[in-house]
Amino acid sequence: MTTTSTSMRPSQHEVRLNSPFTDQKPGTSGLRKSSKQFQQPHYLESFIEAVLRTLLGVKGGTLVLGGDGRFGNIHAIDVILRMAAAHGIDKVIVPVDGILSTPAASHLIRARQAIGGVILSASHNPGGPDGDFGVKVNGANGGPAPASYTDAVFKCAKTLTHYSIIEFQPVSLESPGEQAIGKMTVEVIDGVDDFVTLMQHLFDFDQIRDLIRSGFPLVFDAMHAVTGPYARRLFEDLLGAPAGSVRNGIPLKDFGGGHPDPNLTYAHKLAKLLLQSDDYRFGAACDGDGDRNMILGHRCFVNPSDSLAVLAANATLAPAYSDGLAGVARSMPTSAAVDVVAKELGINCYETPTGWKFFGNLLDAGQITLCGEESFGTGSNHIREKDGLWAVLFWLQILAKRQCSVADLMNEHWERFGRHYYSRHDYEIVDSVTAQSLYSRLETMLPSLKGQIFAGRTVNVADNFSYTDPIDFSVTKGQGLRILLEDGGRIIVRLSGTGTKGATIRVYLEDYVPSSDNLNQNPQIALKDMISAINALSEIQQLTGMNQPTVIT
Ligand code: G1P
Ligand code: ZN
Repeated sequence: MTTTSTSMRPSQHEVRLNSPFTDQKPGTSGLRKSSKQFQQPHYLESFIEAVLRTLLGVKGGTLVLGGDGRFGNIHAIDVILRMAAAHGIDKVIVPVDGILSTPAASHLIRARQAIGGVILSASHNPGGPDGDFGVKVNGANGGPAPASYTDAVFKCAKTLTHYSIIEFQPVSLESPGEQAIGKMTVEVIDGVDDFVTLMQHLFDFDQIRDLIRSGFPLVFDAMHAVTGPYARRLFEDLLGAPAGSVRNGIPLKDFGGGHPDPNLTYAHKLAKLLLQSDDYRFGAACDGDGDRNMILGHRCFVNPSDSLAVLAANATLAPAYSDGLAGVARSMPTSAAVDVVAKELGINCYETPTGWKFFGNLLDAGQITLCGEESFGTGSNHIREKDGLWAVLFWLQILAKRQCSVADLMNEHWERFGRHYYSRHDYEIVDSVTAQSLYSRLETMLPSLKGQIFAGRTVNVADNFSYTDPIDFSVTKGQGLRILLEDGGRIIVRLSGTGTKGATIRVYLEDYVPSSDNLNQNPQIALKDMISAINALSEIQQLTGMNQPTVIT
């Protein structure tokens, strides 16, 4: 596409008739593909055309636009701005350099009453010319667009014959200020300010600063992704952590060649600093677009399911939640640690399918205050996305009040509520046909498992999880195979919906032990009978040819 002319006439471009989106699974939020696929002529444009034709309030509306800084970010912003102008959008809010985290975008959409936002990110997937790119669309409530919207977008994209775009030179994103493309205003803002102000409103920064200055060395790994500028402002400028506490803080197009997923495998350097040295008392990392978080203490890894439970149990220590919680929610594969806390607090706990969009209705209806997923996602009603830096600040707030180490906090939690031993085994880049046939075969075996002994215990339920939304009563089926054992043990098998190479099989393992039991085992040992039982039943290692998972969390 040439951008040399400054003509303001919307021009129409023909689109290839064999639609590039035929392989899109229904219900997928946004478009996540390889950078190479996005570079095909008219590929991004066709998707954006469908987005702008399907989104409500486009004419005269305000849109939020930005991304995690990966390869393709600036080019996509230029294309989307010119297409937004051609479609009659009144104003687009774009952060300096186009750098905007997913949580910050969610906040801006809500604060500026935008019709929605377009977030350019493939989340935790690697970036660069050989990595992935993505376009996510969020609605006016700040949350991921519901499946009904994205399904309508893909349907529209398949029948497109042309798209509208204005030819115009790229606008400068170097500093805040207003510019125009035709009748449309482009408002370039400081992308960090609004988010930081929101955090200052939720947490007691003076208390956190006192903790950090009291000899509490911490390290944050931004993984060369979007959270670097936010984290430097928060931890180093405002909360008094010494310069250098934020590592890999400059967003890079290819994330420095790394895989910006904060887990023990991809953030192993950070994990080593906390788990094998005595230099730091607290460590954390966020993913590519800043919605995931990993929390570490000195010689202590916090499992994300436990993290949600700890935040719920200690929520009233943060100013924003001092009046208590309306309710909590977790995705189905997330451990039931938060359920135990909710029971003691006397509040509702909802179990939703995997994916943040399912929390949206519950948050909008005021039924829940906190929610989370086992995949390093935690959040609250402050926005409609999970929020990595929010979770890190929440942990620091609790530690500042409780004046104890992360390990002590975890031990006290388990002594009070019992422990949910938990692990997720991911088998990545599996041949798609193999993965699907393994899954289907296991599904057909489920009915005969009920009442049988599995991993030494009776199977109470063996099914494919189905969810009825308590607010709009929509039904979502086929959300993962569950084997529920008599005393709280669970084994779940799902196929990932976010990978771009082959298929990823996720096996989730969980076992509850009451506080009187052994609370300090290695989860892989505590769960070993379940691991062998599901490996034998699914024949996962024989069928995939992999003798161990790619990632163990
Ligand atoms: C993964 C996680 C899920 C999360 C999603 C988006 O999806 O498991 O919890 O909501 O990424 O961050 P999956 O690849 O399992 O479909
Ligand atoms: Zn993400």
